[in-house]
Amino acid sequence: AIDIAKLRDQTGHITIDAGYKNTGATKSAITFLDGENGILNYRGYSIEDLAEKATFLEVAYLLIFGELPTEKEYADFEYEIRTHTLVNEDMRKIFEGFPVNAHPMGVLSSLVSAMSAFYPDHQDAEDLTSLHIIRLLAKLPTIATWSFKKSQGHPVNYPQNDLDYCSNFLNMMFALPVASYEVDPVVAKALNKLLILHADHEQNCSTSTVRLVGSSQANIYSSISAGISALWGPLHGGANQEVIEMLEAIKNDGGDIQKYIDMAKDKTSGFRLFGFGHRVYKNFDPRARIIKKAADDVLNKLGIKDPVLEIAQKLEKAALEDEYFVKRKLYPNVDFYSGIIYRALGIPTNMFTVMFAIGRLPGWIAQWKEMRTNKEPIGRPRQVYTGPVKRDFVAMSER
Ligand code: ACO
Repeated sequence: AIDIAKLRDQTGHITIDAGYKNTGATKSAITFLDGENGILNYRGYSIEDLAEKATFLEVAYLLIFGELPTEKEYADFEYEIRTHTLVNEDMRKIFEGFPVNAHPMGVLSSLVSAMSAFYPDHQDAEDLTSLHIIRLLAKLPTIATWSFKKSQGHPVNYPQNDLDYCSNFLNMMFALPVASYEVDPVVAKALNKLLILHADHEQNCSTSTVRLVGSSQANIYSSISAGISALWGPLHGGANQEVIEMLEAIKNDGGDIQKYIDMAKDKTSGFRLFGFGHRVYKNFDPRARIIKKAADDVLNKLGIKDPVLEIAQKLEKAALEDEYFVKRKLYPNVDFYSGIIYRALGIPTNMFTVMFAIGRLPGWIAQWKEMRTNKEPIGRPRQVYTGPVKRDFVAMSER
């Protein structure tokens, strides 16, 4: 008889690394991240420089094609994107079938997945600089604004292609047919910065998902749609929504910050302080530093006094002085502040993760393209089996 226990022991050595905390799944030339020293570079350029000096589309080009664009390359790239912002009206029909209170992330991942049906030539899209990349970058903001418009009971706005990428998005979000709307340059600039900060972050959960799905040679739309789903989770991109909801809960609960800190320290409570801690950054999150300043600028310039922000500031201070958080190096991450800015810009809480997805899109595309260009093998992790070794089948009547 076959000794399965023996066979199991002979299947070779398998490394268990739950959550892949120390396992490199690929080699990549896109993003350099040094968690100990808080360094984040895209293609060698520091996140501080890019956030200050570049446009989001310039950064998208850099991530996807490897170099900063020349003036001509940038103009061509931007032109292509501007001319593909319209979304097929039949996609609108699919969208209309969603309930009014559908979460915009569920809608976004479904509609990006649906794009694979509208652009079926993706299967033989061997040209990795293809129109599919342009379509995704151009249409994602348009689709993203639909959910907001529907939640308001307003008609959707069509893209206005004389506007830059960020202003076009803001216009589709906030312009109403009954009033004139001017995009505030302070707001457009803050959005540009936020999108750049989120544009790539090496092999995080959603990016690894995009690469893994793409490694089976699934098309780019399906791969990105899977990435959007992965991003939705509260331990990943969903954290920015959770942060604001947590701050609002603290405010409505009388502002007792210590109560929530104590709850986060109590492992049996199942509660964590959202916006604190990071898998990779164990000293500080460089994006959090940039964004904290941007949050201050936006709130000052727009003259916003927000009690939720006051809670955020007090919570940050209290956590940074608490031994539990200090010992575990739990600092505010980028999501702690991004929600505050989105709120100031008038973006509703359930759209925060959608904003993250718009920002992360060039990173996903760049990583998908790199994986395909390098002809990486299909991703297929192993396991250590812990179930019963061998059992005899029992007829249903005897169970
Ligand atoms: N509040 C309270 N305790 C925490 C928190 C938190 N936010 N984060 C981590 N801890 C504790 C853990 O309980 C653990 O304690 P222990 O050593 O006593 O067991 C220790 O700190 C280490 O935590 P891990 O979960 O092992 O850290 P990991 O690297 O696996 O997780 C993560 C990182 C998921 C970000 C975690 O810190 C967390 O859940 N934070 C809150 C959610 C959040 O803000 N997510 C956004 C991440 S950033 C992004 O996606 C852009």
